[in-house]
Amino acid sequence: MFHKTLKPFPDNFLWGASTSAYQVEGAYNEDGKGLSVQDLHEPPEGITDFKVASDHYHRFREDVKLMKELGLKAYRFSIAWTRIIPDGDGEINEAGIQFYRELLNELLANQIEPIVTMFHFDLPLKLHEKGGWANRHTVDSFEKYAKVLFTNFGDQVKYWLTINEQNVMINHPNAMNPGRVPSKKELYQQCHNMFVASAKATLLCHQMCPGAKIGPAPNITAIYPEKCNPSDALAADNWESIRCWLYYDVAVYGRYTPLVWSYLEEQGCIPEIEEGDMELLASAKPDYLGLNYYATATVSAAKNDGTDRQPRNGDQQVMIGEEGVYRAATNPYLEKTKYGWLIDPIGMRVTLRRTYDRYHLPILITENGLGTHDILTEDNRIHDEYRIDYLKSHFEQAQLAITDGVELIGYCPWSFMDLVSTHQGYGKRYGFVYIDRDETDIKEMTRIKKDSFYWYQDVIKNNNI
Ligand code: BG6
Repeated sequence: MFHKTLKPFPDNFLWGASTSAYQVEGAYNEDGKGLSVQDLHEPPEGITDFKVASDHYHRFREDVKLMKELGLKAYRFSIAWTRIIPDGDGEINEAGIQFYRELLNELLANQIEPIVTMFHFDLPLKLHEKGGWANRHTVDSFEKYAKVLFTNFGDQVKYWLTINEQNVMINHPNAMNPGRVPSKKELYQQCHNMFVASAKATLLCHQMCPGAKIGPAPNITAIYPEKCNPSDALAADNWESIRCWLYYDVAVYGRYTPLVWSYLEEQGCIPEIEEGDMELLASAKPDYLGLNYYATATVSAAKNDGTDRQPRNGDQQVMIGEEGVYRAATNPYLEKTKYGWLIDPIGMRVTLRRTYDRYHLPILITENGLGTHDILTEDNRIHDEYRIDYLKSHFEQAQLAITDGVELIGYCPWSFMDLVSTHQGYGKRYGFVYIDRDETDIKEMTRIKKDSFYWYQDVIKNNNI
């Protein structure tokens, strides 16, 4: 559909940028912080771990200064559960509270709206050792943690996100479950428990922080059929429901959709549901939807002959197929990043429209960006016009989606500064701010503004692309 006139970005549009605690903070064992599952991460040879990351823990004032200079209206970051409650469940660590209070003070003093993710992949190790999310006790621990957050930061934070990419943790569980990969049955138990935990946090937030908004933040993408053959369309529909809509359906409507339920039945993965869970899920209503978008996926009908799952490495954006459910297909219309992620700005508009049509809730893009190598030139610059092109094309589609009628309240590209990628360490950079370190040599970690920094600064200043 061609529009005659484009609607502008709203005046109070939350132009932001994102990070997560374990990928930027470093200081993994300082000031009383407990270990998380990410601190056990053993990367492949030549790739960094998360111990020092971008040293944001020690340099957050300098980083907020750069956010201010960039003109950010919002900053989305996560709180490390293990800084607040080191073993996930016991004593509160005052130094952790203090750190985030100071960060929040700094942001608010610079008129930057904090958007806080409560849990971003870094489960406390002690809870993991007791069964992690499969153990119902972790739900109580999360509720306790949520209470500590709302008590201490409820006066400073208006936008909360409960769980980052719950669907990635279920579909790509390796990095979240050190030591063993849980069975599918166990994963869907983890998933149900996360839904309950998230619902409890949502109810608690509404009770303790009137005026605050809270929502989930899954990784959502439109799934295309490879051909217009109806069985490909059905496969796309199946996988979109299982990979994406399940996570909003339970969060928003408090119910498992019949298609997903019958899939779980057939797979022998029906989770144990305690009495009262479904009522609880139905009563906890998010105020908005966080949405992480990177790439669409294309699938074809399953053959169900033992070859649907392809033996290749799939990260969160690379589909690998599932026996009897769908096969991964290629999309000849789209280019890929160096890391095999499809570049599909129009797909983002499709994803936003489908999401808004299903849930009628305001949407905040909580992640989207280009991960690639950057080159620091001799004159200390980073000419990342490829990142500008990527973001510009996505911002354009965001504006078209707004014109289509989607209530988009903000856009937080991933990431504010370079950070440690979940799989590819420091080689795969996303930031507007370059951090001068590499995989093995942390150097001075000087902050350097990339060309995309100045471009984004202009976008924010003009509220226009
Ligand atoms: C999202 C995660 O899946 O994608 C982030 O929420 C992650 O934590 C981002 O960093 C980019 O993925 P990657 O694998 O390139 O770091």
